[in-house]
Amino acid sequence: MNRPYIFCHMMTSLDGKIMGNYMETAEGAAAGDVFYNISFGKNPYYKHQGWLSGRVTTDDNFTFYEKPELDENAPSVPEGDFVAKPHEPMYYVSVDPSGKLGWKSCDLTYIDTHAHVLEVLTEKVSNAYKAFLRKLGISYIIAGEDTLDYAVAMEKLKNLFGIETLMLGGGGVLNWSFIQAGMCDEVSVVIAPSADGSSETPALFATRGGLATDKAVGFELQSAEVKDGGSVWLRYLVKK
Ligand SMILES: NC(=O)c1ccc[n+]([C@@H]2O[C@H](COP(=O)([O-])OP(=O)(O)OC[C@H]3O[C@@H](n4cnc5c(N)ncnc54)[C@H](OP(=O)(O)O)[C@@H]3O)[C@@H](O)[C@H]2O)c1
Repeated sequence: MNRPYIFCHMMTSLDGKIMGNYMETAEGAAAGDVFYNISFGKNPYYKHQGWLSGRVTTDDNFTFYEKPELDENAPSVPEGDFVAKPHEPMYYVSVDPSGKLGWKSCDLTYIDTHAHVLEVLTEKVSNAYKAFLRKLGISYIIAGEDTLDYAVAMEKLKNLFGIETLMLGGGGVLNWSFIQAGMCDEVSVVIAPSADGSSETPALFATRGGLATDKAVGFELQSAEVKDGGSVWLRYLVKK
């Protein structure tokens, strides 16, 4: 398949959580810097051209559960994909199968990383939502009828936008569905030496939402490094 190389890069607590108060400890903050520098710092390890996020992660961090401003009477948009900005240095690729996200702009900034927003939709998304994205200058691709067609989505990211390496950036639902679909080559995890014991916060991988099964997967260790503040950086290949 003609798709990007896909690595999942995440930070977790000692007990595998991707959210929570543990991030506010000195150890959590140090691990957060390690996480960012590996993927987006001055000399990044993977040198990717895009990072993929689930709809909940995008709402939590960038769109804040705002409703999109839809014009139900918008003229019909042309069929197919919309490439507003081809071959940008960095894309924020948002998996939004129903077209829910209330974007305000076609670009975003994450710490000091600037990216063009690229939505991954399915055929079930309304004309009004696609017109809304076009008006903002947000690129979109359509992959699948009702549910995400992983192969189509990944091929389009490579062919239409030149994404050769893609970071799978959470949350746990997105990560696990991509691993189960055979769409993740490598897992890179920075473990913070802190925890908060919460039973409410999401873990690195989750079957929630019926998007994937709990079929077990093995991983093959590539490297283990001790980093700042006592964090560790583990890299694993996903066994096929
Ligand atoms: N520590 C870290 O490094 C890190 C990194 C990223 C995120 N996070 C945190 O993780 C939390 C959210 O994680 P989460 O696991 O609850 O949610 P998530 O993976 O961000 O989003 C799940 C949603 O994304 C869409 N989606 C994901 N995979 C899909 C697939 N294969 N096919 C179709 N749609 C798919 C669905 O949207 P619909 O519901 O619209 O259908 C699904 O409900 C946030 O609090 C975020 O801040 C932490």
